[in-house]
Amino acid sequence: MKAGEFIGKTAVVTGAGRGIGKALARALYAEGVQVAAGDIHTENMKALKESCPDIVLCECDVTKLEDCEKLVQTALETFGNLDYVISNAGILNSGAVDEIDPDAWKKVIEVNLYGTFHMIRSAAPVMKKNRRGVIVSMNSKSGKKGSYKSSAYAASKFGGLGLVQSAALELAEYGVRVNAICPGNLMDSPLWTEGENALGIQYARNRGISQEECRAMYDKQVPLGRTCHYDDIINVMFFLLSDDSSYITGQAINVTGGFEMR
Ligand SMILES: NC(=O)c1ccc[n+]([C@@H]2O[C@H](COP(=O)([O-])OP(=O)(O)OC[C@H]3O[C@@H](n4cnc5c(N)ncnc54)[C@H](O)[C@@H]3O)[C@@H](O)[C@H]2O)c1
Repeated sequence: MKAGEFIGKTAVVTGAGRGIGKALARALYAEGVQVAAGDIHTENMKALKESCPDIVLCECDVTKLEDCEKLVQTALETFGNLDYVISNAGILNSGAVDEIDPDAWKKVIEVNLYGTFHMIRSAAPVMKKNRRGVIVSMNSKSGKKGSYKSSAYAASKFGGLGLVQSAALELAEYGVRVNAICPGNLMDSPLWTEGENALGIQYARNRGISQEECRAMYDKQVPLGRTCHYDDIINVMFFLLSDDSSYITGQAINVTGGFEMR
């Protein structure tokens, strides 16, 4: 990557209030990118705004096309352009296929799959017109392999990769690239650690083991022997946004420490 390559570029990031989205928005801002951050919970984004005062916040529920269009419009009106889309917002409702509430199942598809579609749909006309742009979708290792008692999540992520590949085919002639990042488990992220429904707490409870034992079990499953960190994803995101990856589109890059290899 060239020094200063990202300075003055404009990005929109969804689900920027917490976890990975917040970390990515901060990293982009630190490299001089003008960021419009969207989240369904705007109060979540207060800390982001405090650490990155020039970030523009936008209430955005990715299940609503008009909210995604508004986020893109906010970036255009505030910064005058749009270079990058980081479609990151996602949820996980787990439960066996014959037990999960069908509405909870559907909600996962609406946020993870429709949400990504809505962001691509909102950004594509602008990027086509500019004949440049990069879209990065935050997928998962569950986009490559089924997930025990998380069928909605895996279905949404498998679908997400079909969407990324198809959009990449359509937008290639306009010089717009579309790729996905498929992280492994970020066991230090709030999804795993915060609140009663934190995955680390749920999975330990389901297995009748302590959270520490659960964490050690998950780390052991990873060939490189550790959990995924924000920096692992940030590094791949910058590579995908940079001109160093100008011949890469329609790909789903595993960031799993060797856990997933397909
Ligand atoms: N944390 C992990 O271990 C992990 C692993 C692989 C992939 N991922 C993926 O990374 C992405 C981010 O995950 P995370 O761990 O940071 O999750 P998180 O729950 O910590 O944060 C998600 C953010 O998205 C927001 N959000 C939820 N529904 C929304 C909606 N309808 N519209 C807009 N924003 C909404 C939430 O308010 C929250 O701020 C997701 O797509 C997830 O599937 C996470």
